Amino acid sequence: MSSNTKELLWQSRFSLPFDRDALLFSSSVHVDKKLYREDIQGSIAHVTMLAEEGIVSVKEAGEIIVGLREIEEELTNGTLLPHWEDEDIHTVIENRLKEKIGATAGKLHSGRSRNDQVATDTRLYLRRQITELQETLGGMLRVLVEKAENYQKTIIFGYTHLQRAQPISAGHYYMAYFNMFNRDRQRLHDLMKRVNISPLGAAAFAGSTLPLNPERSAVLLGFDDMFANSIDAVSDRDIVIEFISACSVIMMHLSRFAEDLILWSSYEFGYLEISDAFATGSSLMPQKKNADIAELVRGKTGRVYGNLMAMLTIMKGLPLSYNRDMQEDKQPLFDSAETTIGSVSIFAKLLEHTKLKQERLAKLTAEDLSLATEIAEYLVRKQIPFRDAHRITGKIVTWSIASEVNLPHIPVEKFREFSEVIDADIYDCLKADASVNSKKTHGSCSFDSVALQIENARKQL
Ligand code: ARG
Repeated sequence: MSSNTKELLWQSRFSLPFDRDALLFSSSVHVDKKLYREDIQGSIAHVTMLAEEGIVSVKEAGEIIVGLREIEEELTNGTLLPHWEDEDIHTVIENRLKEKIGATAGKLHSGRSRNDQVATDTRLYLRRQITELQETLGGMLRVLVEKAENYQKTIIFGYTHLQRAQPISAGHYYMAYFNMFNRDRQRLHDLMKRVNISPLGAAAFAGSTLPLNPERSAVLLGFDDMFANSIDAVSDRDIVIEFISACSVIMMHLSRFAEDLILWSSYEFGYLEISDAFATGSSLMPQKKNADIAELVRGKTGRVYGNLMAMLTIMKGLPLSYNRDMQEDKQPLFDSAETTIGSVSIFAKLLEHTKLKQERLAKLTAEDLSLATEIAEYLVRKQIPFRDAHRITGKIVTWSIASEVNLPHIPVEKFREFSEVIDADIYDCLKADASVNSKKTHGSCSFDSVALQIENARKQL
């Protein structure tokens, strides 16, 4: 057994120093050092409250605050390097404060445990990340509205089962993603209500005999409210789970979008061009142009889902209140926040640097079996029951494929062999733009509907 040299915060009760390997194993400094700003912010609020309540003197609080500000500076510019022997970032800061101002440093921890301290740091971190993610999503929404506007009149194929289904306005397609990412933004807004609650003042888990003022600490930290129950305040990691869950949904949306970009930019589809600045090549095959950014986003989705599963499993079956297992929340939390913000941000940029191949799309959509639904609805307008109309149209499609005559080129006499209600006006609906614009229903793919969707979206930006 090799022993540790530094005294740990909780050491006094023990007769043997903590084993170095055990300390190395339990140290979280390499991960939670990211929380140093939040930790100092929380400490300044706590000591301000302590001074206001007369628990420490104003002079002591002043010294502590000056010291903490200097430590923040030292950690930012790298003159203070957090060491694993300090166990966690809270201890790094506490030990450094002691070096700087002596015994007064110990007063900062009156009525506070690392349990409510770390819960506070986590909420402050989440608040910052949620705000940043919301802003990043806002950037994505702006690109989507712009795309929808630019390609409002471009007709593309809409798909079901990855089979060409019906022609639609490309704007309609982009607005579908607008709705998805807008819901993501709303989800974060909703989550913020539960995140922005202060756990500070719960102490270890049972509260304190000191006359703390948790309401005041909450106000000082800009929280909307304070905890209602001190056990729950230190034990709750629902907000971390909810946040990673919201990140997972965002990544799921991105992965679907990524898949569309990858497929559409392939030679086989050839609908879309990714700018050379956002594509990669092959070290062996000189002709290759790959959509690596989209693939990476799709791949990172898996990591974020893994984080969600990790968090749910870490919390499963934990007895109340705090357990050291909960220290493991930070890696999944930080990774999810950074991965999701990074992915949304780069994907929005990638999207900006894509172009639909309008000429090719116009040619492809002009003559395609995806116009078949138009024939069925034409027949319905001529009073044929839809089920019969569907059957008749199916036969027309079979004939079209077998005889290699595309729908708009089938002579009217031929059409009439399938149904005598068909007249020459059938050709009016066998045009992609007519098909798109004959849609009358709310939220449909017509140019007018897309224009309305864009107008409403603009109001939400
Ligand atoms: N490093 C710990 C964490 O992140 C801080 C809380 C430690 N509390 C304790 N009772 N050991 O969860």
